[in-house]
Amino acid sequence: MYNQKVAVVTGASRENSLGLNLARVLCQLGYFVVATYRTDRYLPSLTETDLGVMFITLDVRQQNSVEDLLKQVRDLLYRCDLLVYCCGVPALREPICSAPIDAVVEQLEVHAVGFLRVVQAMLPLMNKGGVIVNISSTAASLANMGADAPGYAPAKTLSNAIVRQLAPSLRDRGITICSVHPGVFPSRIGKVGSPASIAAHRVANRILSLGFEQSGTFLDAVSGEPIPW
Ligand SMILES: NC(=O)c1ccc[n+]([C@@H]2O[C@H](COP(=O)([O-])OP(=O)(O)OC[C@H]3O[C@@H](n4cnc5c(N)ncnc54)[C@H](OP(=O)(O)O)[C@@H]3O)[C@@H](O)[C@H]2O)c1
Repeated sequence: MYNQKVAVVTGASRENSLGLNLARVLCQLGYFVVATYRTDRYLPSLTETDLGVMFITLDVRQQNSVEDLLKQVRDLLYRCDLLVYCCGVPALREPICSAPIDAVVEQLEVHAVGFLRVVQAMLPLMNKGGVIVNISSTAASLANMGADAPGYAPAKTLSNAIVRQLAPSLRDRGITICSVHPGVFPSRIGKVGSPASIAAHRVANRILSLGFEQSGTFLDAVSGEPIPW
């Protein structure tokens, strides 16, 4: 246990979510996994494959909830080797010009501000060789942005910008940070594609092959190629 690497995976509450499926894959790869859920309404009952996964409640819009996550991981496990931020909410139904501002704020908080909150909280537990992955989306790319995915797309762009600012400030500590597009899969957010379990394997493979020189990049988990900002 003391030598086992610890992975924290947020947004792991739903059977079809990337977070829960990635938690399972990382477990199989030998990590001790802390998986977070906001509500237990959708949390599947634990099965044998979940052994080694510890579930902790987390609402990334609440600073005290994020601090509580830090406290529990610090007190029980002492370290965090890998943080994968998978929290997300579906794009707004209305165009950005008329969308309720509260809903836009939720997008920014869940996809971007919450990511920074969790990174700041976990950093004291991370050492040289640590890895932080922001699960982003091709929708974040300003190069191709139009009116699609209202609220969601700009919130993902902000999360990418946060990765860009964090990368140089974490370089001296030997921590790698990047944004990864997981590919598409059916969930509450996605509608098409192969199942989340396949996306989870894809993301895990990408994480395992990440080099320190790729810190500060935006990668496509499907092709392994960088995505234009
Ligand atoms: N599905 C796709 O095709 C696709 C494509 C590109 C990128 N992505 C990205 O992949 C990531 C995972 O998405 P998914 O498709 O797995 O969606 P999902 O099934 O809806 O999972 C999202 C997770 O985020 C959690 N969450 C929402 N608000 C939260 C909050 N305030 N605090 C803490 N957790 C919160 C949800 O918890 P609750 O269950 O409690 O709501 C859920 O566990 C997201 O960043 C998404 O943008 C998905």
